[in-house]
Amino acid sequence: MDPLIEKIYSMTPEERAECKRHVMLGGGTPGPMLVRGAGIRVEDIDGKHYIDCTSQSWAMYLGFCNPEIAAAIHDHEGRYLNRVHQAFHTLPRHWLSRKLSEICPPGFTRVSFTVGGGPAIEAAMKIALLNRPGAHAFISQYDSYHGTTLGAMGLSWHSTKANGSYVGGSHFLPLLHDTARFPNPYLLRLPIPGKHDQPDLACAEMLRVTMERGINGPPAGVIVEPIQASAGQIPATTAYLQRVREICDEFGALLIFDEIQTLARIGRWTAAEHFGVNPDIFVFGKGVGGGLPLACIVIRDGLEGFGADVQELHTFGSSTLSHVASAKMIDIIERNDILANTRDVGDYIGAQVESMRDEFPEIAEVRQIGLHVGIEFAWPDDDLTPMPGETVAIRKEAIDRGCIFGLGGVRKQVLKIKPALICTRQDADEILDIFRDSMKAVLRKKTAPAKNEMAAAGSG
Ligand SMILES: Cc1ncc(COP(=O)(O)O)c(C=O)c1O
Repeated sequence: MDPLIEKIYSMTPEERAECKRHVMLGGGTPGPMLVRGAGIRVEDIDGKHYIDCTSQSWAMYLGFCNPEIAAAIHDHEGRYLNRVHQAFHTLPRHWLSRKLSEICPPGFTRVSFTVGGGPAIEAAMKIALLNRPGAHAFISQYDSYHGTTLGAMGLSWHSTKANGSYVGGSHFLPLLHDTARFPNPYLLRLPIPGKHDQPDLACAEMLRVTMERGINGPPAGVIVEPIQASAGQIPATTAYLQRVREICDEFGALLIFDEIQTLARIGRWTAAEHFGVNPDIFVFGKGVGGGLPLACIVIRDGLEGFGADVQELHTFGSSTLSHVASAKMIDIIERNDILANTRDVGDYIGAQVESMRDEFPEIAEVRQIGLHVGIEFAWPDDDLTPMPGETVAIRKEAIDRGCIFGLGGVRKQVLKIKPALICTRQDADEILDIFRDSMKAVLRKKTAPAKNEMAAAGSG
């Protein structure tokens, strides 16, 4: 091993504590100090192993240390082309652009890469502004999360308010643009009053009211997470998205799908394909880089794209290594039909958790599409009183037992199971055993056999 790397990994506890003093974490729930990962598993500094059902911000699609991606990166490093100025052309960037166009529905043929999800969301906003001159208003969904760069944060309700209190982003309000919002299709707890025959459609219909009466001037864009993630794993329905599409067309707003968490994870390349509704602009991030930092937008034909006059330029806007890792990952997903595995294992987990509801009536709802799984806990009373404390405790218990689940960012009563897409049914059985034991320990008040002091971990 390189002597410096060896030195870093063999620091004394005192030296580690000293180094830690210099770090600002910035968000999320702090977790164990991880030193190694392989497949869907990680190891902490004390040698404890975990199945990682967060796949670290849901981003490691093929797990940790995929040997083929590592080899592709290594081969390419030999060319000393880890990063090339955006204004230069590279073959991996061209190849990946074509590949991303191919995995999108027909008619989406132009790609712009950037460094992360927040900047990609802002790139989509810029495309909307370019194509709708004079229109400045953006509309997002209730409970939305699109990132913490200032533009993305303005769209995100969760960055400014969660769990009943004002959080991080509310410190930056003077620099955030005001965003109007319309109801998400949170059918378990409908965000609009009254009873409705088609509650999802009633939520979508509120977009029309917002367009007509809730914004200043014409709308530039509407941004939707087809399956909301930080909000607590809330899927749209085809009817909801179709209505949103129609209202956008009627008012001339561009429809942006934030597919940063849905790409491939739902067992189809895009949620647009899953629901049969197309946006005008796709935004991809997280897993798209094959484990390296990458995000992008893909826009439909007929839209004006970015020109060369500094509309969208980043020093690391063309990371060749990320392009190579991404291209290799897509290749492996296609070759090994990882999307079929994602659907199969996801459906299996969904069905197994569903079958636990007789024993655990506190499971109020299982929301699963592919390996995008959310489980909402509520007391089985008339009001379905949310159980955030117990859900956090179940998660802590599971960490003690060797499995890291995610938690809903906005709703702590939602537990997330979103491992790497290579998770097998056998892995799923292990996950489900720990899940059941942890529920028993917390909800039926038995304690775990072996406690470990690891803090509860993970991100929204
Ligand atoms: C749906 C969604 N959009 C945007 C973002 C922001 O991406 P990034 O953290 O890469 O800026 C996230 C991150 O969690 C996300 O979940």
